[in-house]
Amino acid sequence: MTTMEAMAARRSVRSYTPRKVEEDKLERVLEAVRLTPSRHNEQNIRVIVVREEALKKKICQQAKTQPMVEQADVLLVFCATDQTDFMMPCGQYGYVVDMALATGFALVEAADQGLDTCIVCAFEEAAVKAVLAIPESARVVSMVVMGYGADDSPRREKKTLEQIVSYEHF
Ligand SMILES: Cc1cc2nc3c(=O)[nH]c(=O)nc-3n(C[C@H](O)[C@H](O)[C@H](O)COP(=O)(O)O)c2cc1C
Repeated sequence: MTTMEAMAARRSVRSYTPRKVEEDKLERVLEAVRLTPSRHNEQNIRVIVVREEALKKKICQQAKTQPMVEQADVLLVFCATDQTDFMMPCGQYGYVVDMALATGFALVEAADQGLDTCIVCAFEEAAVKAVLAIPESARVVSMVVMGYGADDSPRREKKTLEQIVSYEHF
């Protein structure tokens, strides 16, 4: 699969079969995260791989998130570990962009491996931190559920290039 094919194949899947993710596929996804660019190459990231049923259930219930978190074989939790108060000259927090990129790299590699995914940002951070023993200073930016989907709904429509791209000026 080319990178473009993987990006085209990816779509958010919110219902999962019990099928386990093969270790080599999980490793490839984690390797993609490792290769992600970060501000100053500081790599202030910790990705927590959660597969234990009890932990996923706790997160699902206590962090008031969606059932797919419990259902999918793998839950990746993207945490920024340091410098979470650093604002870039552009006025955005660097760690948010770092975590977004890492999340995106993981999604594309997962698609390349034939895995289904969905980003989950609807969760209560404090509850996720409590369940996974994440230090107070870290921030949980995003989670990704990953596994084999039980839903074959079509890809969502995307805007055309004309709608989202302009040249030279806005
Ligand atoms: C920052 C961000 C947060 C998201 N949070 C959630 C979420 O909490 N729950 C969910 O079901 N989908 C979530 N999504 C998935 C989007 O709803 C989905 O990407 C969008 O509808 C486009 O569909 P597609 O991924 O199939 O292209 C999130 C996506 C992004 C980029």
